[in-house]
Amino acid sequence: MGADYSSEPGAATDPGQGRALTVLGFETSCDETAASVVRLSPDGEAAVLSSVIHSQVEDHAAFGGVVPEIAARSHVEMIDGVARRAMAEAGLDYGALDGVAATAGPGLIGGVMVGLGFGKAVALARGLPFVGVNHLEGHAVSARLARRIAYPFLLLLVSGGHCQLLEVRGIGDMSRLGTTIDDAAGEAFDKIAKAMGLGYPGGPALEKLAATGDGARFDLPRALLGRKDCDFSFSGLKTAASRLAQTCETDQDRADLADAVQTAIARQLSERSARAMRDYAERHAQKLFVVAGGVAANRTVRAVLEKTAADHGFDFLAPPMAYCTDNAAMIALAGAERLALGLTSDIDMAARPRWPLDEARALVDPAHKPGRKGAKA
Ligand code: KG4
Ligand code: ZN
Repeated sequence: MGADYSSEPGAATDPGQGRALTVLGFETSCDETAASVVRLSPDGEAAVLSSVIHSQVEDHAAFGGVVPEIAARSHVEMIDGVARRAMAEAGLDYGALDGVAATAGPGLIGGVMVGLGFGKAVALARGLPFVGVNHLEGHAVSARLARRIAYPFLLLLVSGGHCQLLEVRGIGDMSRLGTTIDDAAGEAFDKIAKAMGLGYPGGPALEKLAATGDGARFDLPRALLGRKDCDFSFSGLKTAASRLAQTCETDQDRADLADAVQTAIARQLSERSARAMRDYAERHAQKLFVVAGGVAANRTVRAVLEKTAADHGFDFLAPPMAYCTDNAAMIALAGAERLALGLTSDIDMAARPRWPLDEARALVDPAHKPGRKGAKA
């Protein structure tokens, strides 16, 4: 990528009177217990001083997916040690911190409450400001952990829980261009992989199998083709692929199906991102496309999206994998950026299982029925 994004106006926040801000962040919204210390310098440069992640994958593998009660209990057991390690690896005492941040939602409520409660306790005990962070905002800033990129940019967030296109203009200033109306892309990978008898999480297993396959003989459905928006849908693909999985007899059949599924998911991500790029380019001179979330680990997905970006005159950036999947460094950075703008949270802030980044859009858009409990994400 040739362009220098660090010189755009609005790139650097001015953290608290021109000094660096050091923030301890917590992430517990799904099946990773994570803590991290990040230092944000006045020029907007982020340094990850530590990033500790305890993955619960083994605790959930036997069940083929994340079990909320097991996750919450494991967070309770692990968070203390994970926090200590993050501080030790950063080589800092709590006195060196300027604030504490924790994911306050959206996510599995039991887990969110553990990290949120722990973060608040540290803030209270040390007399530090507290920042409750939207997990999606964390993903949105994750690319800034690796490189000093400026706002604005177009973001495709593709994980197990989310599939959204977001226009990211700055912290607390993001709008949603599209979202999934059923499953997230990672969820589709996982569910189809499960139907094919692969392990959990299914995405990496399916990618491995697809490497030896040729999916050309399978004709999988293409969703929402007639629509002009940037929304996603994977349920038709999931149903069709799960049905085809029953007909596979040989390892080669299964590899071919895996390849077809991977190609279909990548194609849909590409088609919707292309629409969003055309829309976004009408409003912004800086054309940068960032892809984040666990599905960004998929090489086919990455390659297809990189080409889509190039075709539309966008530069392409995918953060290193460690920052794509769930981590606390992105929460600490979002917390530091908020702190720099004076945006702290009340200590009695509640955990939110559902918390759309762009709440106004989520509530008025009829394509995304909020349901009894409000818009999901
Ligand atoms: O971001 P993440 O770690 O957690 C969520 O916030 O959901 O994403 C996990 C998701 C899972 O659905 C997993 O199957 C998917 O990312 N994933 C992949 C690959 N690696 C992880 N999907 C396809 N190919 C991969 N290589
Ligand atoms: Zn996530």
